[in-house]
Amino acid sequence: MMSKLGVFDISVRYGKIPAVTDLSLQINEGERVFVSGPNGAGKSSLLGAISGAVATSHGRIEMDGDLLTGRQPEAIARLGLSMVPEGREIFGALTVEENLRVGTGMRRDVQAVEADVGEILDAFPILAERRHAAAGALSGGQQQMLAIGRALMTNPKLMMVDEPSLGLAPKIVDQVYETLCALQEERSLTLLIVEQSSLRAARVGGRMILMRGGRIVGEGNAADMADREALAQAYFGAPRSNSDMEAAE
Ligand SMILES: Nc1ncnc2c1ncn2[C@@H]1O[C@H](COP(=O)(O)OP(=O)(O)OP(=O)(O)O)[C@@H](O)[C@H]1O
Ligand SMILES: [Mg+2]
Repeated sequence: MMSKLGVFDISVRYGKIPAVTDLSLQINEGERVFVSGPNGAGKSSLLGAISGAVATSHGRIEMDGDLLTGRQPEAIARLGLSMVPEGREIFGALTVEENLRVGTGMRRDVQAVEADVGEILDAFPILAERRHAAAGALSGGQQQMLAIGRALMTNPKLMMVDEPSLGLAPKIVDQVYETLCALQEERSLTLLIVEQSSLRAARVGGRMILMRGGRIVGEGNAADMADREALAQAYFGAPRSNSDMEAAE
């Protein structure tokens, strides 16, 4: 298997606050990897470090053998890495089409940009239907599709998605993951996805990395990890419900 991404011993700090500490990670080409863990575990900081949005204080990151560390996010994007940020960062006052063009301002190949917009609209019929609508008028699920579509505009090989499920109804989350998995197949994408729900990760399938306090504390097949977590909660962690208490008495 070909290595796509190599993270070697990186640390991220915000002033005195350590967010990621001596973290290493290898991702193979075509793999689907979930990052799970509680709030503040450092999941977004890890993605930010890889995309170049957040500086590392230590270590190095490589994609296809190219050093990413120290490069500008735009340069990293040009190498084939794209990110769907936490909270989507859709421009509500702009139309769907205009949102797709955000980030293409530097490109002089206007026709190629329009061809790329057309390709994304073909891939997402719901976006095509609403291409002239203000993005702010879309539902949460549609906005997530738009954020994914926009990230595909640079034709990435590695795509990172930070919490695609956030604030969406379970049925909509199903659709988002169906779309992501289909895109992965069609475009031979490598996916790195932050997903709080280990059950969801298990259902979609892939490798799961569990982070806590800026470090990796567990790793394995998502389905096995979800089972283990459920077991641990049943024995040690889960707050007991009233009916459990009554049954025990
Ligand atoms: N811009 C920032 N300035 C200062 N501290 C930050 C900043 N961003 C994150 N942190 C801190 O770094 C740590 C890791 O945060 P991060 O956002 O990476 O975690 P996360 O796992 O993505 O959390 P969440 O599940 O809430 O999205 C936390 O202690 C957080 O408070
Ligand atoms: Mg986060």
